[in-house]
Amino acid sequence: MSKKIAILGSTGSIGTNSLRVIEALGPKFEIVALTAHSNTEMLAGQVRQFKPKYVGLTNPQKADDLRDRLGDYDGEILVGPASLVEIAGLDETDTVITAVVGAAGLGAVLEAAKKGKTLAIANKEPLVIAGQLLTATAKANGAIILPIDSEHSAVFQALQAGRTDEVSKIILTASGGPFRNATAGQMENATVEEALAHPTWEMGRKVTVDSATMMNKALEVIEARWLFDVSTDKIDVLVHPESIVHSMVEFVDGSVVAMLGQPDMCVPIQYALTYPRRVKGIGERLKLGRLGKLTFEKPNRSIFRALDLGFAVAAKGNSAPVVFNAANEVAVQEFLAGRIRFGMIVRAIEHCVNKHEVRSSVSLEELLAVDTWARGEARRYLKREVEQIVR
Ligand SMILES: NC(=O)c1ccc[n+]([C@@H]2O[C@H](COP(=O)([O-])OP(=O)(O)OC[C@H]3O[C@@H](n4cnc5c(N)ncnc54)[C@H](OP(=O)(O)O)[C@@H]3O)[C@@H](O)[C@H]2O)c1
Repeated sequence: MSKKIAILGSTGSIGTNSLRVIEALGPKFEIVALTAHSNTEMLAGQVRQFKPKYVGLTNPQKADDLRDRLGDYDGEILVGPASLVEIAGLDETDTVITAVVGAAGLGAVLEAAKKGKTLAIANKEPLVIAGQLLTATAKANGAIILPIDSEHSAVFQALQAGRTDEVSKIILTASGGPFRNATAGQMENATVEEALAHPTWEMGRKVTVDSATMMNKALEVIEARWLFDVSTDKIDVLVHPESIVHSMVEFVDGSVVAMLGQPDMCVPIQYALTYPRRVKGIGERLKLGRLGKLTFEKPNRSIFRALDLGFAVAAKGNSAPVVFNAANEVAVQEFLAGRIRFGMIVRAIEHCVNKHEVRSSVSLEELLAVDTWARGEARRYLKREVEQIVR
């Protein structure tokens, strides 16, 4: 088993965990390329340690800084958003780990699929907005998509216990995030610090806020719809605060197959890299005896409105998920910058989804046009809401 790997987004939470996993897997797992957006200090450190042939930096304003830091590095430095696509399609790799945050990874993920790569995919947003196009492109070009998202890795593993036509339900588990027991009033004015205080997972800032609104689970419903080619009526969400059961599959005979483990992303990352084999890894071991009990509850859909919205958007399909995702990306950015209230995030998404007339075309150009419209509409909506509060 050997792999030649590119990591898109190597400086993030998934990216750094991927490097830890690869280092532990040994020299047969070779890093050919790394990319980041603007964290040149960390990227330069990774380049010195892993010596990739290619380095990509999507933010051109930091290019000189990266070149200064890399000194006599003899590999190739690619700069700008196009560098992500170029690195995703390199002939020298067989595996691309997509760990970029947001829709920015879309072009690169599609390029890797076109080139028939094995895609170890953490970056859920491209699957949400272009699931149909991406899975069709992968199929047409012999690319394999392996999920890194812990829930989808769990489902992928559980599905191996039966045939596709024997599946009756996919049950995605959710931690419930920091506001599992909060009231709508408490959530409305939650601070950035409170939203980032996830009880079980350590992740990047955007996905952590998504967990607090439960948008993350809504995005995962759409992700599951495309990854496993199931209709949304076969997908369910269950809150499981301990984050030990990472998801489950119920089969037609009533058997439920679950995948359990510590909340540690190194385990699904490693599985995506060594699949179909399993090897000893650095992932933490599960000690169920110490835990004592595992609990499950239905999500409070009247407080976490993102969930029902996500199911509705998943059922509509076509251009609807593009709007859902783009409005969320804008609103989360505004929230993290301290410009809007927490409660406005889901209201902005709801507004944009309701205003959008769903288009049935799934060409990349049309998806990108809808994405641009939704970002503008979300900004306009949030500006109006903020102005009303100030008055
Ligand atoms: N973290 C988790 O445990 C987890 C679990 C499941 C799924 N995911 C999914 O995995 C993806 C990555 O999450 P994360 O938590 O690792 O995010 P993160 O810590 O914020 O890291 C994001 C990475 O993407 C890069 N990046 C940011 N903006 C970019 C842009 N415009 N163009 C290209 N690259 C850009 C960042 O570079 P700089 O550092 O230079 O800014 C960084 O390397 C997300 O889609 C998330 O939903 C994450």
